[in-house]
Amino acid sequence: MKITVVGAGNVGATCADVLAHKDAASEIVLVDIKEGLAEGKALDIWQSAPIDRFNTRTIGVTNDYSKTENSNVIVITSGLPRKPGMSRDDLIEVNAGIVKTVTRNVIQYSPNAIIIVVSNPLDVMTYQSYLEAKLPRTKVMGMAGVLDTGRYRAFIAEELNISPKDIQALLLGGHGDTMVPLPRYTTVSGIPVEELMSKNKLDAIVERTKFGGGELVKLMGTSAWYAPGAAAARMAEAITRNQKRILPCCVKLEGEYGLDDVFIGVPVVLGKHGIEKIIELDLDDQELEKLHESAKAVKETMEVLDRLG
Ligand code: LAC
Repeated sequence: MKITVVGAGNVGATCADVLAHKDAASEIVLVDIKEGLAEGKALDIWQSAPIDRFNTRTIGVTNDYSKTENSNVIVITSGLPRKPGMSRDDLIEVNAGIVKTVTRNVIQYSPNAIIIVVSNPLDVMTYQSYLEAKLPRTKVMGMAGVLDTGRYRAFIAEELNISPKDIQALLLGGHGDTMVPLPRYTTVSGIPVEELMSKNKLDAIVERTKFGGGELVKLMGTSAWYAPGAAAARMAEAITRNQKRILPCCVKLEGEYGLDDVFIGVPVVLGKHGIEKIIELDLDDQELEKLHESAKAVKETMEVLDRLG
């Protein structure tokens, strides 16, 4: 298996590093536009192979997409990150141009690859990549729900002082302030979280999760990378190892949840064919309303992209 990660910035390099440590592919190609950056980071990761004992061969290239030929999975992290005071939507125009070019380049050499988009604003960049790749919707997806549920579960683990390993949770919607964490689908080793925590505490965690990316931008002056990189790697590994994991991913809906032609986060089965199934939950009226509100916000940003042409 071969994975290409485009963008050797913090998120791309972390994703490549996590994937290599998991031995999730025999080869990982890291691509960047900045001379030497991808080569350097790939070499640095490769030098940790004897220490941490993995086999994945990591190589880096500057803009040479021929080296990405026949990749099974492509992770696109290219684009500008947020600065304090910016919303993810402020990045649409500049990142759309970048994601479009990158998609064209990778598809030229790997026409059958599965694409995972990580660039922001996530849902609309997934749409941009889908438009350019001209692949079926099962093969172009966005990473957000794995990251956002990661944050949500980490906050719950901290509050309850228990292992994050035991927390199962689900979150729907766009990667923004309208995301929809689902307490009704959150359990701790099978125990409904509502039995372990007051409603007030849980509500506060849901709110913190919605602004979890912004919290980190404020602290660091740029957007996060460890959890985003690990989340993208989790999805890529589910594909290269054909794990049939159920993960929340951004995907084009065609009637599911009463939504059409919108890219938004829902639970899917991820395996070697990409999105092998979209799972439709039996949401209550309130949950469904929140999902539709989130879809409306995403649709508005998709229309901004349409107007940009
Ligand atoms: C975040 C960025 C990566 O949520 O969207 O941290």
